[in-house]
Amino acid sequence: ALRDSFVPKAEKQKQRSWNYLQPQASYKVAILGASGGIGQPLALLVKMSPLVSALHLYDIANVKGVAADLSHCNTPSQVLDFTGASELGNALKGVDVVVIPAGVPRKPGMTRDDLFNINAGIVKSLIEAVADNCPDAFIHIISNPVNSTVPIAAEVLKQKGVYDPKKLFGVTTLDVVRANTFVAQKKNLKLIDVDVPVVGGHAGITILPLLSKTKPSLSFTDEEVQELTVRIQNAGTEVVEAKAGAGSATLSMAYAAARFVESSLRALDGDGDVYECTYIQSELTELPFFASRVKLGRKGVEAVISSDLQGLTEYEEKALEALKPELKASIEKGVGFSRKQT
Ligand code: NAD
Ligand code: LMR
Repeated sequence: ALRDSFVPKAEKQKQRSWNYLQPQASYKVAILGASGGIGQPLALLVKMSPLVSALHLYDIANVKGVAADLSHCNTPSQVLDFTGASELGNALKGVDVVVIPAGVPRKPGMTRDDLFNINAGIVKSLIEAVADNCPDAFIHIISNPVNSTVPIAAEVLKQKGVYDPKKLFGVTTLDVVRANTFVAQKKNLKLIDVDVPVVGGHAGITILPLLSKTKPSLSFTDEEVQELTVRIQNAGTEVVEAKAGAGSATLSMAYAAARFVESSLRALDGDGDVYECTYIQSELTELPFFASRVKLGRKGVEAVISSDLQGLTEYEEKALEALKPELKASIEKGVGFSRKQT
């Protein structure tokens, strides 16, 4: 049932007999920041994947107990724990996908950019280790501000001479998950049927849901477009405020990150029909990084779906132009940070 919810309808028909207790492939996944609010539920969801043979859990603290607990689940993957910088290299060796939710979350009143000073350094040091130990892995960056941490990671990988832009991903799946949920609720549709591409970046107005490209094709009033767009853009803040100082989205984020891991593993496994929105190095606009729908394959991004940006509504066109200066500044801040450090 879990996997079913990640899988598009047509795909589901092929996979009716799926059983998560049966190994179907043997990929290795590492989670860096595995004992955190996102890390723990994400580890549980990845532990349920039939495509995973080894799950490497890394954190600076408290990871032993999480791994011991998880290792009792009778699903195929072996769970190994790694604590602290001295064990980071071993956590990464031989890994196919590295997921990074390490770093501090927001409290009410903060922007994602307010996390930059702490999280930029964390992402930089983790990516240095990724470059040294598993340079061919798919890298999924969750740590905020994603608009800057992905450019930081790209610079570090370039400095190490191992940058493959097709394999570095900012995880924006939660924006799609939220858009799908809110649109289905508003239009009284079955959730499984709704798919909204979300482009741009992952903060405030840089999050741009393309409601005109929703599948199935739907019509929205101007008021609905405005209300849904603002709700999707502020959904992270909605959770930060509801948690009132206890952090930001963790469960929905783990769900979204697990979907992106599963999609990556299916792509690595040769499935030719895997599409996700993600924040990547991009030529779709004049900005060097931009989130859009891509086709994933064995080597990472196989194609960028440029048609999503064609035939936009006037509202979407304006929102696209409006987000560019903020996204550009966040990218430059990340690149500037990495260059200053060397
Ligand atoms: P958390 O504080 O609960 O967990 C973070 C974990 O990272 C902790 O276990 C901590 O020990 C660990 N950590 C800190 N420094 C580390 C290092 N150098 N190496 C390894 N681990 C380290 O926070 P959380 O709620 O899990 O959120 C984590 C990050 O994810 C935040 O930056 C948050 O803003 C971001 N986030 C992103 C999205 C998205 O859509 N991309 C969604 C939600 C949260
Ligand atoms: C989210 O969208 O939930 C995350 O980016 C966390 C946050 O700070 O909002």
